[in-house]
Amino acid sequence: MTRLSVNIDHVATVRQARRAAEPDPIAAAVICDLAGAHGITCHIRGDRRHIQDDDLRRLREVVTTHLNVEMAATARMLEIARRHRPDLVTLVPEREGEVTTEGGIDAARLRRRLSRHITALRRSRIAVSLFIDPQIEQIEAAAALGVGMVELNTNAYASAGSDRARARAYDAFVAAAARAEELGLQVAAGHGLTVRNVAPIADVPQVFELNIGHSIIARSIFLGLGEAVAEMLDAIGA
Ligand code: PXP
Repeated sequence: MTRLSVNIDHVATVRQARRAAEPDPIAAAVICDLAGAHGITCHIRGDRRHIQDDDLRRLREVVTTHLNVEMAATARMLEIARRHRPDLVTLVPEREGEVTTEGGIDAARLRRRLSRHITALRRSRIAVSLFIDPQIEQIEAAAALGVGMVELNTNAYASAGSDRARARAYDAFVAAAARAEELGLQVAAGHGLTVRNVAPIADVPQVFELNIGHSIIARSIFLGLGEAVAEMLDAIGA
């Protein structure tokens, strides 16, 4: 069974639009849990545009399933990870001014810097995943870095402009997932997934967990959050 970790960043985006107290991402985490989600994901960005430091503290108190925190590989973020001790840290690239994460981290090129950072996290007994593009070179670099898990970026698949491009992106995803398994890596996936496009990705046997945010939170405005989580669980066959 594929697990669903709901990314609640955009609940905080709405709150931060008015620097108000609501909607509270911690309340969202509780509703996701009640609706059957297997975990909660959030991304603490350098610019704090959505999730704030205090949200992490409160999420750590409330989330008893699995808390995955996405962050850049910086000294400040290492400190934050050590303070709040999520179940998993997913290292992502972050570019100032980007609307959303634009691609996977370049594990092959950044090997030396990532290696120091991953070692520090693992010494603090925090599990580490790398968000990477579904390319064999990146999978092999991630395995060489000693992480236990990778999150494969599904953006190329989700945003493909034609059936042909989508099929090509899907084939690359399937090959990357197979190589990750051969190298002993657990496989998560996410970015741009919706109830309409998620099933083929959920059906890839190596995919253990999906991290899905924007579509669930967008649909929750009309359906309610519990219902939006339930329809995604249904779409992934969980
Ligand atoms: N995985 C990672 C690493 C991300 O940065 C994001 C977006 O914050 C997601 C998954 C979720 O993507 P989406 O919001 O498009 O579902």
